[in-house]
This record gives sequence, C-alpha cells and structure tokens, in this order.
Amino acid sequence: MLIDDQLTKVPVPTSGAKGMTVFEAQDGLCNILITGGGGFIGSQLAYDLAETYPDYRVVVFDLFNYKGSLNNLNSHVHNLSIFKGDIFNDEDLSTALMAYSIDAVIHLSAQTSVDASLATPYESARANVVGTNVVLENCLKHGVKKFVHMSSAEVYGKADVGEEGVFREDVSPRPVNPYGASKAASEMIVHGYQNRGIDTFIVRASNVYGPKQFPDKLIPRSVTLLQHGEKVTIHGTGEDVKHWLYISDVSNAFNVILHRGVPGEVYNLGSHYASTNYNLCSSIIKAITGAPDIEQWMNKVPGRAVVGKPVGLGFSKLEGIGWTQKVALEEGVEETVKWYRDNAEKWWGNLPGILGIPPRKSC
Ligand SMILES: NC(=O)c1ccc[n+]([C@@H]2O[C@H](COP(=O)([O-])OP(=O)(O)OC[C@H]3O[C@@H](n4cnc5c(N)ncnc54)[C@H](O)[C@@H]3O)[C@@H](O)[C@H]2O)c1
Repeated sequence: MLIDDQLTKVPVPTSGAKGMTVFEAQDGLCNILITGGGGFIGSQLAYDLAETYPDYRVVVFDLFNYKGSLNNLNSHVHNLSIFKGDIFNDEDLSTALMAYSIDAVIHLSAQTSVDASLATPYESARANVVGTNVVLENCLKHGVKKFVHMSSAEVYGKADVGEEGVFREDVSPRPVNPYGASKAASEMIVHGYQNRGIDTFIVRASNVYGPKQFPDKLIPRSVTLLQHGEKVTIHGTGEDVKHWLYISDVSNAFNVILHRGVPGEVYNLGSHYASTNYNLCSSIIKAITGAPDIEQWMNKVPGRAVVGKPVGLGFSKLEGIGWTQKVALEEGVEETVKWYRDNAEKWWGNLPGILGIPPRKSC
C-alpha cells in the first residue's frame, strides 16, 4: 500500500463552472489515456474530462510512486479508470492501450523540476526524452490517433523575443537548464511521429499552480513553510518574473486542443498574470501570517543562474481555437492558500518531513 492509511481522504476539488468548455463529443476520441495522470495536472485533467464527457472513458496511467498521489484520485467517477504502470515498461503500456482501446494519449509523465534536473541531468533526459519515445512507439503500435505532449515554457530560455516582447511558437528554443533542454529534445521526438499515422500536438506551458500540487513547488512550498512557522525561500532579490496559470485553465487548454487543435502544431499556454517571486511570496506571507513586516518571513539565498528571459508567452494561437484564461492570479492564489490551509496535512501526511523542516523541540 503506497498511501499512509492514516491519511484522511478529502474530496478532490473539481474545476466546476470555472473549468471546461463543452465541445460535442467526438467519434474516435472516446478513450483517452493520461500518462502521469496521478500527478498535479493529470489528476485534475482526468476528473474534468471524465465529468464533462460522460461518454468518454478516461484512463489514468501512473507509477504512483510518491506519497499522497493516490489521494489525487480518491473520488469515484464512473468513467474514470486507474492503471498503475511505468511508461518505461512496454508491457504496462501495451496492456493499458489495448485493454481500453485508447484513441488519444495525453503525455504528462515526466521529471518535472528544474532543480532535480540540475542534480540528476541524465535522469531528466531519460525520463523526458527516452520516456516520450517509448510512449509514442507504443502509441504507434496500438493505433492511437492523437498524441498531446506536455512540454514547457522552459524550452525558450534565452531565445529571441519578437517585437511584441513575448516568445512566439516559431522562435528557436534556447533552453538554459537540463529540464528545458530535455523538454526541447522531447519535442523533436514528437515531431518525428507526426505524419506516421498519429496526429501530434505540443503544449508549452508557463508555471501552473493550484490545489493538490506536490509541496516542493514555489506556491505550495511557501504556504506550507509559513504554516509550520518557517520562512519562505527567496532566491537573490526575488526579482525573477514568472507567469502563472491556475490549474483549471490548464485542464481546459488540453480539452480545447483535444477537440479543436490542428495536428502537428505547437501551442503556447501562457498567462496574462506575471509576478516577481518577491511580490508573490509577499502576498502569501500577508495572507497566512498577517504580519506587517513581510521581510522577517523571507530567507534570502543566492540567486540561480539557470533562469531564462523574464518574458511571457504569446498565446494567440491557442486563443484562436477557443481557449481563454479565466482565473486571475489573485483569485487563484487565494483559493490555493485556502485549500492548503484546510487540506494539506491530510493530503500529504508528514509535510515537515517532505519539506525537510527539522522537528520542533517541545519543552
Ligand atoms: N507544474 C508546472 O508548473 C508545469 C509547467 C509546465 C509544464 N509542466 C509539465 O506538465 C507535466 C505534469 O506536471 P505536474 O506538475 O502535474 O507534475 P507531477 O510531478 O505532479 O506529475 C507527474 C506524474 O508523472 C508520474 N510519473 C513519473 N514517472 C513515471 C513513469 N515512469 N511512469 C508512469 N508515471 C510516471 C508521477 O508519478 C506523477 O504522478 C510534466 O510533463 C511537466 O513537465 C508542468
């Protein structure tokens, strides 16, 4: 059993009215498999697709190798199935693709962190490049018709910026860290399968946040550190700018691309909402501590040399097929802070252990 029996299950939040655009159900798109579907983005997408399209079957394919991830799928939905498997195992993939006669695969499974990729770059390349190749080869073998690949805005790095001051899909990627490089390489693998009987789609997303994200990422990590009386970590002066997307908007982007996407295209999934890390952490500190002196809750550490240009993505191509960003940063952060405040301990179990917070001495 992977999940601590003592975890108290709480209902999975669904995107509800804020979420999915409803398209007419498509023939040939009845059975959808999501690799990495037990993770933050995949589990939300799985519920949103299953609830919006009762005639589709959604199959979550995941290793479920970190604590709490099974909690992401604890609500019963009649047309959602869960398959525990490894994308590197041909037999696991073949079995799942055949058993559910899969029409479309959304490939989210990956090594997902810049820091982890710096520590273990070969593992990052294996998970993201070779892993994508294994999934695609199995899709080809089993007649999958659509393959939607999750890449990242990290592929742009120090790429050229057009006159509008944003990265457009047609600029050449120039990643600045192993994670971005592995995602850029994985895109080339995907392009190699278009025109071989599979329609491929690539999504380059900005930073995603929301309930249920593993608490090693900036927003959930800052919330949980503060809840345990610890300071948030600020790299350098905190002037790094990031563009933020709330989870329900990301879920809907996959829905739009599945139903309206043009085969072979790359879609930027960008955001109207940008913030410096300093400002974002300040608003979280204010929400949790109410303290007038924000800086006393900041632990400033040296900056990182592996960040790209602080510009956003141009995403008019995605808007052109029907996607709009619905959730503002302030609203999304408020909901996220509330969810972690109410649920995080029950969801993840030993949060101080996960975040490396030393146990407090009781006197
Ligand atoms: N979260 C973000 O801000 C963001 C931004 C841009 C792109 N992305 C991309 O989106 C995708 C999903 O990210 P996430 O934030 O949901 O990450 P996550 O870590 O929450 O989910 C990844 C899931 O993949 C599963 N997985 C890993 N290796 C596997 C394997 N060998 N076989 C089967 N399953 C495996 C993990 O168990 C996990 O459930 C990734 O490709 C990531 O690079 C994320």
